[in-house]
Amino acid sequence: MPTADIAGSALRHESAHLHVSGRALYCDDIPLPSNTLHAAFGLSRVAHAHIRSIDLSAVTAAAGVIATALPADVPGENNYGSSVHDDPIFTDTQVEFAGQPMFAVAAASYAQARRAAALAKIDYEELPAILDIRSALAAKSYVLNSRHLLRGDPQAVIASAPHRLKGTQQIGGQDHFYLEGQIAIALPQEDGAMLIHSSTQHPTEVQHIVAHALKRRAHDVVVQCRRMGGGFGGKESQPALLAAAAAVLANKTGRPVKLRMDRDADMLATGKRHDFIVDYDVGFDDEGRVLALSVMLAARCGYSADLSGPVNDRAICHVDNAYFLEHVEIISHRCKTNTVSNTAFRGFGGPQGMMVIESVLDDIARTLGRDPLDVRRLNFYGHDTRNLTPYGQLVEDNVIPLIADQLEASSGYRERRQAISAWNAANPTIKRGIALTPVKFGISFNATFYNQAGALLHIYNDGTVMLNHGGTEMGQGLYTKVAQVVATELGLPLSAIRVSAADTSKVPNTSATAASSGSDLNGKAAQAAAQTIRARLIAWASEAHQIPADKIRFDNGVVWLGEHSISFAKFVAQAYQARVSLSATGYYRTPKIHWDSSKLWGRPFFYFAYGAAVSEVAVDTLTGETQLSRVDILHDVGRSLNPALDIGQIEGGFLQGAGWLTSEELWWNARGELKTHAPSTYKIPTARDWPQQAHVALLQHEPNREDTIYRSKAVGEPPLMLAMSVFHAIRDAVAACGAPNSLPELHAPATPEAVLRAIDILRGEALA
Ligand code: MTE
Ligand code: MOS
Repeated sequence: MPTADIAGSALRHESAHLHVSGRALYCDDIPLPSNTLHAAFGLSRVAHAHIRSIDLSAVTAAAGVIATALPADVPGENNYGSSVHDDPIFTDTQVEFAGQPMFAVAAASYAQARRAAALAKIDYEELPAILDIRSALAAKSYVLNSRHLLRGDPQAVIASAPHRLKGTQQIGGQDHFYLEGQIAIALPQEDGAMLIHSSTQHPTEVQHIVAHALKRRAHDVVVQCRRMGGGFGGKESQPALLAAAAAVLANKTGRPVKLRMDRDADMLATGKRHDFIVDYDVGFDDEGRVLALSVMLAARCGYSADLSGPVNDRAICHVDNAYFLEHVEIISHRCKTNTVSNTAFRGFGGPQGMMVIESVLDDIARTLGRDPLDVRRLNFYGHDTRNLTPYGQLVEDNVIPLIADQLEASSGYRERRQAISAWNAANPTIKRGIALTPVKFGISFNATFYNQAGALLHIYNDGTVMLNHGGTEMGQGLYTKVAQVVATELGLPLSAIRVSAADTSKVPNTSATAASSGSDLNGKAAQAAAQTIRARLIAWASEAHQIPADKIRFDNGVVWLGEHSISFAKFVAQAYQARVSLSATGYYRTPKIHWDSSKLWGRPFFYFAYGAAVSEVAVDTLTGETQLSRVDILHDVGRSLNPALDIGQIEGGFLQGAGWLTSEELWWNARGELKTHAPSTYKIPTARDWPQQAHVALLQHEPNREDTIYRSKAVGEPPLMLAMSVFHAIRDAVAACGAPNSLPELHAPATPEAVLRAIDILRGEALA
């Protein structure tokens, strides 16, 4: 294969052979010294309380226990909150949610640590708890100030609009359910230094928080992560808790400490996707064009801020989704509750924001008796007019109508709509539904300074390449894509490049691998490093061989010097002999972006990623069960860096989104205890839930307009939101149970219970 084609090729994941044979090393597989201790947290059992006393005497006396850690054992800052410092590592004064870590115990084995942790005697003075969003709103209980976006004059326009609708929607949260749970290992090094292996999307943050907890400086702590068994946003801020606790115990005992949570503890103690309640008020014309929209977003943030500020800002910036909103008002409340602190989750608030407008448009269409697709189309962003987002960014790369046209045709939407109507007219029990929903997702971190990345590239004198960059691998294929970039730049086969673990001692001050920007940022940084070395090699060879620089080419492991060729390995060996530096760093920062977060105005996103999906479902109106019978997806990844990985991301993201909106239900009891904390009670989709018919395609011939790495587009998060089509297909089927123009009261997740309830309401059979 000529190397020019390596970027853009459907190559397998660089670790695929290791994944499928069980040889990929995750944190838990790292061989450890024999004196390693195993730690477990002691978790609060109540949602809100003063702690009168913690008695750990039975814990300390238990078999195998070597040490415990309480706040007093933290030499530095007892906190792992990234921006607002409101997340204690351990708490011995008050608990703010059931599942909060109060202490940790280190023992000779993990089983001993767990057993011992359960022996703690805690004297709680219970306090009233705020557990849900409505109660928090009523009490004005917020973790951060509310935000208000206002463009135009929505109230006046709504009041004078030909039609007006008000509605409410509940949108559920979601547990990350990464297959590899949270884990950290702390290994004391000489002279007070600490080495941390962490399953983290954000090694730099883990480094800083461990340093602060140990009262050390950044250069005393090294954090490494070769790969995660899934992160999905759940390993952006949460891993610092485990790493800090393990480091405190390692510091106290002078021994290596491994802290691996089991699934129940992980689900109880670590944050999830924010659930939302949304109230809306919309004015529209006879055709269904939105004239003005007013929205109240209320998110359950849990007991602390964590990433709730940026998550909710992104929700605000995605209420428009693919639609032009001329007069719009969005109020966003960040509700404080006595539940686990919610965090990043694929889409980062964007999915919840988009669900609002999709439901509004669905309601408008049903009220007017129009096909929801026609109402959606009517409201799409335009090309030269109707193209300003509520937050001031122009939509310059609009491919929404193009995607909708292609997908409507390829999926046979109109014919199937007719067939479904005929089916529903004839069949009282099984109802079918179909929906096409678009996605427009902003790419870049809203916080501008995160949009930077570094890389470190070495060429050894046998011609092999070691690549390191600030990004982390969580299964998404980032390491493969960045290696493809380096292979392309140096004219090498992919096998010549090895990617080493993310490591804070190699590339410093990294951003979380998040916001789908991993390949955009690290691909460009690695490209810069490769180009630096290549330029050095060309300058040397051009002089050494007396040949013009433009006659030197790198291709498929061979260097062409005019008509003569030499293997890359020999060429590099000669360059080494001639004392040419074969190591370089690369750096990249995203251009053009700026954001005034107080005014909610600017260009937060370098560009947008687009897609659309058509889903068809069958609903059993006697049981509420739904089946996704077919999905058609057309997704925009610009000029794909790797179509195989991109399609994998699209399929995985879509199904994860379908889980969020249909089967994954988080349920707390009246005492604020999460009762769905294991796969027995929390239902994620599996391969069996994949639709019988699926057609997944990449939008062709639309390279990114912006100068991204080889004109590709980010793909990590946007496909999750394609699953809104599943929810609206279900709603479509449910609507078929009622009178024409009825609006099903369907909330997310559309579990069988929720579907049945919505049907019963429509049929007038609802129980009180
Ligand atoms: N894909 C896999 N297999 N595992 C993951 O944990 N995380 C998602 C997405 N795709 C994830 C994934 C999330 S939340 C993000 S932000 C991106 O990958 C991060 O990686 P990227 O920026 O390289 O796309
Ligand atoms: Mo992804 S939620 O930005 O880690």
